[in-house]
Amino acid sequence: MSGHDFESHFESTGSIDTTDDSTMIDKAAIDQLAAIADRYPRKRSALMPMLHFVQSVDGRVSPRGVTVIAEILGITEAQVSGVATFYTMYKRRPAGKHHIGVCTTALCAVMGGDALLDTVAQTLGIAEGETTEDGQFSLERIECNAACDFAPIMMVNWEFMDNMTPDKATKLLDDLAAGREVHSTRGPAITSWADTERVLAGLNDGRADEGPSAGTPSLEGVRLAQHKGWTGVPRVMPVVPDRPVVPEPEAVPAEPEPAPVPAEPEPVPAEPEPVPAEPAESETPAAAPAARPRQRRRIKK
Ligand code: FES
Repeated sequence: MSGHDFESHFESTGSIDTTDDSTMIDKAAIDQLAAIADRYPRKRSALMPMLHFVQSVDGRVSPRGVTVIAEILGITEAQVSGVATFYTMYKRRPAGKHHIGVCTTALCAVMGGDALLDTVAQTLGIAEGETTEDGQFSLERIECNAACDFAPIMMVNWEFMDNMTPDKATKLLDDLAAGREVHSTRGPAITSWADTERVLAGLNDGRADEGPSAGTPSLEGVRLAQHKGWTGVPRVMPVVPDRPVVPEPEAVPAEPEPAPVPAEPEPVPAEPEPVPAEPAESETPAAAPAARPRQRRRIKK
């Protein structure tokens, strides 16, 4: 170990909870899942919307949901589970009717996000990652939701609650628990987490235009630039043509095994260059005189 402690705020990691095999997925749900898959040129692109739909029915990614998705898409259950357990928006245990998220990333944290999270946890009587016994609320600590100009923010069923305070959060939870009508600070009425999951599955609830698309603080920079006459650097955006729809590829027959290539023969080592004989000490290589015939020595008697 490096000696640095790491504290994870995400739910315990692991696989789909197979100890709970309860399901509400019926024939109509399976038909709906198949219809979602049919929207995509490549069916497996529908995996994430289909997981959201399973959550809208079973309140979590159920084992049955994993099996049905794998069958429709023609992929393995392990491939479905691999995606479902990677993203924190997919739940392995049932979420509440209202799923509460409190952002504690840097900007929301300095604006009181942690105090907000503590207040919500105390009010609901649960810790982050848990669901109330009556199934009305679940709580999650979330990362930045790109709404820092409204910090600290809270989400209810992924609808924004901007500029929250502990008091506002307590009243909001009381209203939701009492079944009173509650609206996001950006307009849309809060319904349920299951309804939101259907929207995330790509099913139109007809409410896309409720509320503004951008809030006042987000537009402040634009307004200031217009007032000052500032313009950005002109930029020519490349025209990217629509991608052609690619049909599902036919099963490609396996390539025939290539004929074995005979091994290259081992290179024969070259004959070593003959080493020139060392010249005799008395000889000079360039002008060695021709050897004279030896004369017999006369022996004096
Ligand atoms: S830090 Fe909370 S929305 Fe960005």
